[in-house]
Amino acid sequence: MASTSKRLEGKVAIITGGASGIGEVTVRLFIENGAMVVIADVQDEIGKNLAEEMGAPVCVFRHCDVTVESDMEGLVDFTISKWGKLDIMYNNAGILGTAVNEDVHNLDMADFDRVISVNVRGMALGVKYASRAMVNAGTKGVIICTASVSSVLAGMAPVAYTVSKHAVLGLVRAASSGLGKHGIRVNCLSPWAVATPMLVNYLRDTIKDPTLSEEDAKASRDAHSNLHGYSLSALDIAKSALYLASDDAAFVSGLNLIVDGGFTATNHSFDT
Ligand SMILES: NC(=O)c1ccc[n+]([C@@H]2O[C@H](COP(=O)([O-])OP(=O)(O)OC[C@H]3O[C@@H](n4cnc5c(N)ncnc54)[C@H](O)[C@@H]3O)[C@@H](O)[C@H]2O)c1
Repeated sequence: MASTSKRLEGKVAIITGGASGIGEVTVRLFIENGAMVVIADVQDEIGKNLAEEMGAPVCVFRHCDVTVESDMEGLVDFTISKWGKLDIMYNNAGILGTAVNEDVHNLDMADFDRVISVNVRGMALGVKYASRAMVNAGTKGVIICTASVSSVLAGMAPVAYTVSKHAVLGLVRAASSGLGKHGIRVNCLSPWAVATPMLVNYLRDTIKDPTLSEEDAKASRDAHSNLHGYSLSALDIAKSALYLASDDAAFVSGLNLIVDGGFTATNHSFDT
């Protein structure tokens, strides 16, 4: 009998952006919970090392640039040929874009295109090929996309990022609406700030201080948190992904699960 503590026993999952940050921690948590995981990323060395640490046969790395359609198609084909099915697609790879406090009238269109390409096109390709495989096999699978609090709120991140994460929410709603008839659930996971390499590098660039540490990033973020006395970690986001991927969320689809300690529910206009 399957251990009840393993919530993804026998499930096959792909995690894009699985080499670093939220993706890396989710790889570890999914495997702890009995899943077999393909780490898909452009950081080959880091991704391969993580897969090796997790060990065969439960984890493997596959190079995939999520913006390249043939890479995404190849990733899904590779997964099916390795494990015979795809149960969980976690579209998590994303970028913040250039660290500039630009207004929309100064938008750098090259940066805009790059952010939209990774964050929107990449997730759309992930949804397309994962759902195609699930529909063809009759798998009642799960698709999760990492959006952000920037899916519902402007002013937290650069313009292009905000646009891209609003689009991810639109993608999730459209996909959840279209794929429900196949029994496939599609949800959005929207974290508040987590001190991953993405955020730390962004803050370093913004304040032009290359020595800023992960602890500094956490402290500056915690100072603005709505929920005092708790420091949000990548593991908190991974646990939310685990919930959405598991049967505990069997009737949850089309949701934007915002993990922000109430930040986006709060009026900040009286903040001092
Ligand atoms: N860290 C935060 O504060 C925060 C908050 C809200 C949402 N998010 C979202 O969480 C997700 C994960 O970000 P993170 O904070 O863990 O950052 P991270 O930089 O630590 O990890 C992102 C991973 O995505 C990979 N990646 C980037 N472009 C790619 C591409 N074209 N193809 C394949 N892989 C690619 C990177 O190599 C990296 O391994 C992103 O979608 C991000 O927008 C992060």
